[in-house]
Amino acid sequence: PELGSLVNLQVLSLHNNQLIGFIPNTFGNLINLTALYLYHNQLSGHIPQELGSLVNLELLDLSNNTLMGSIPNTFGNMTKLNTLFLDDNQFSGHVPQEIGTLMDLKYIQFDGNNLSGPLPPSLCVGGMLKTLIAFDNNLNGPLPSSLINCRSLVRVRLERNQIEGDISKMGIYPNLVYMDMRSNNLFGQLSFLWGDCHNLQMLRISNNNLTGEIPASMGQLSQLGLLDLSSNKLEGEIPSALGNLKKLFNLSLADNLLHGSIPQEIGALSSLELLDLSSNNLNGLVQYSIEHCLKLRLLKLNHNNFIGNIHAELGSLRNLYELDLSDNSFIGAIPSQLSGLSMLENLNLSHNELNGSIPSSFQSMESLTSIDVSYNELEGPVPNSKLFQQAPNQRFMHNKMLCGVVNGLPPCNSVTQSRGKWKGYKILVLAPVLALICLILIVMILMFWRERKKTKETNNDKVTQEKVFSIWSFDGANVFKQIVEATNHFSEMHCIGTGGYGSVYKAILATGEIFAVKKIHMIEDECCMNKQLFNREVEALVQIRHRNIVQLLGYCSSSQGRFLIYEYMERGDLAKMLKDNERAIELDWRRRICIVLDVVHALAYMHHDCSSTIVHRDITSNNILLDQEFRACISDFGTAKILNIYGQNLTRLAGTKGYLAPELAYTENVTEKCDVYSF
Ligand SMILES: *[C@@H]1O[C@H](CO)[C@@H](O)[C@H](O)[C@H]1NC(C)=O
Ligand SMILES: *[C@@H]1O[C@H](CO)[C@@H](O)[C@H](O)[C@H]1NC(C)=O
Ligand SMILES: *[C@@H]1O[C@H](CO)[C@@H](O)[C@H](O)[C@H]1NC(C)=O
Ligand SMILES: *[C@@H]1O[C@H](CO)[C@@H](O)[C@H](O)[C@H]1NC(C)=O
Ligand SMILES: *[C@@H]1O[C@H](CO)[C@@H](O)[C@H](O)[C@H]1NC(C)=O
Ligand SMILES: *[C@@H]1O[C@H](CO)[C@@H](O)[C@H](O)[C@H]1NC(C)=O
Repeated sequence: PELGSLVNLQVLSLHNNQLIGFIPNTFGNLINLTALYLYHNQLSGHIPQELGSLVNLELLDLSNNTLMGSIPNTFGNMTKLNTLFLDDNQFSGHVPQEIGTLMDLKYIQFDGNNLSGPLPPSLCVGGMLKTLIAFDNNLNGPLPSSLINCRSLVRVRLERNQIEGDISKMGIYPNLVYMDMRSNNLFGQLSFLWGDCHNLQMLRISNNNLTGEIPASMGQLSQLGLLDLSSNKLEGEIPSALGNLKKLFNLSLADNLLHGSIPQEIGALSSLELLDLSSNNLNGLVQYSIEHCLKLRLLKLNHNNFIGNIHAELGSLRNLYELDLSDNSFIGAIPSQLSGLSMLENLNLSHNELNGSIPSSFQSMESLTSIDVSYNELEGPVPNSKLFQQAPNQRFMHNKMLCGVVNGLPPCNSVTQSRGKWKGYKILVLAPVLALICLILIVMILMFWRERKKTKETNNDKVTQEKVFSIWSFDGANVFKQIVEATNHFSEMHCIGTGGYGSVYKAILATGEIFAVKKIHMIEDECCMNKQLFNREVEALVQIRHRNIVQLLGYCSSSQGRFLIYEYMERGDLAKMLKDNERAIELDWRRRICIVLDVVHALAYMHHDCSSTIVHRDITSNNILLDQEFRACISDFGTAKILNIYGQNLTRLAGTKGYLAPELAYTENVTEKCDVYSF
């Protein structure tokens, strides 16, 4: 309390300590104080009335304490106040009207309290207010009238209150960057004025009672990245002008009363990653539009009236992890091209009029964890893969005649028995003919082999691959030759990194395709260990297909060495990016969180969703690669070990110092917990 005698004090900073107890009311004597910082302590009790006497105070920060009671109305006397932070306490009661008389107010932050009642109507009376943050309270009453014309606003967060009000006149905010007013009781229409908020990057007004149409002027918001108007009562059509929003990555208009078809212009949204149009009255064909949004990761069109076929082109949206077309009127067959969606996790096609069978190519969709095709007209065998074997049968119910591995479906042979008789007859006739053909073929192959062996011995100096096995569907030997050319016989110039086990080269093929080629070091005494490592990495990677794990495209073992061919990740590894001050700026918080989540997804997949657990054993930022879109992928499975489910996993120590789990260092017992520790 004696600090209150220092009457000439201008700034008092006691933040980020562990102070307990009350704020002394003697602080009211510090009349020369311009800034008082008490945030991040454990102060309790009420704010003393006397603080209101600090008439020179410009900044007051009491956030992150356990203060309670109401905000004193004497705060109206601090006429020079421009910054007031009271967030994350336990304040209750009303926000005093007097705060609305402070002409210099620029930044107000009240969020995370239990404040109720209306916000002061004249909050922006000075015309300086930039930031108003008051989410997660119990505020009700009308929207402050002065907010409607508050041109200075930059950032507004009022979500999850019960604020009522007509927003029809809102929208004149030339400086506004971020506005979140979801989950309130707002009503009225979106005005065309919103089109002039040229700096707007995020607008969320979901979960309110908005009516009317979406103004076409919103197509002018060139900076807009996220638009969420879901769960309102918006009607009319989706304006085609929204196709101009080149930065839009997340668009949700779900759960409204929109009708009409999806405008073709939506296909021009080149940044769009998440599109949710579910639960509207949209209709027409889904064609010539969204299949061009190649970055889409989530597409929800469920619960509308879309008609026509499911277009095969949807199979080119390679980044999709969720596709929900359920509860529409789609007809025809399920296009087999959908199996090209190698990152798809959830597929819902239920409640349509699809016929034919489930394409057998679906059995190769390794990332798929949930499929629902119930309530269609499907027939024939379901694909045979782990997913289908384990799927609950209600996801296949109410079809014409599905059969196969899904629990509860009839086995397929009983369905096809009627045709079986004729088949048996045919086999009787064909068997001897086939046997003869096989014999001839075998003789021919043997002869060919002997011939080849001879020529091989004669020109040994030529580059020959003793064994090229490839996951590629095309000629592996030829690709290898192209790679040797593209990297100029693995010259330094094309090397993009060197690690413990090998060097990585960037190979740009004549076709323009880019690959990362990892050449495993060959040191003679160590050859056997390296071979083991190589095989282990291949074994692990072949099993894996996940959007956050670097994809192995091919591999070969030749007299020149052993190589792994990966998808090329444009931005290289995370560690380097973080260390480079200039490039690190690009990693904003949103991206960093996404990277963390990407790694989590990859680990969860390796640990829990593979047929046998795969432990990476060297999770560090060096082994996390980023592509052009900042998608993070785990790489470098050199030390991965496929865990035998029952056996003990004693191995030699592997990994990076500082990231090693203690139990691994002491007992050398590998479990997936080691990865979690490193992570
Ligand atoms: C401060 O405000 C209160 C209530 O708003 C008022 O009664 C009081 O006279 C004011 N004090 C000073 C010193 O201005
Ligand atoms: C918040 O305030 C209301 C009254 O306005 C009260 O009923 C409720 O218990 C308070 N909640 C908490 C967590 O203090
Ligand atoms: C929306 O408005 C209707 C009537 O106009 C009202 O009955 C309903 O409670 C409102 N809903 C919300 C969430 O405000
Ligand atoms: C996209 O917007 C929806 C609706 O506001 C939200 O639930 C979701 O978290 C957003 N996703 C991203 C990645 O921003
Ligand atoms: C698929 O969609 C239908 C209807 O929209 C829904 O009832 C069902 O729960 C969904 N299935 C899954 C697995 O989410
Ligand atoms: C599926 O339905 C379409 C018409 O909706 C029909 O032309 C087609 O022959 C049907 N296909 C099968 C395999 O039943």
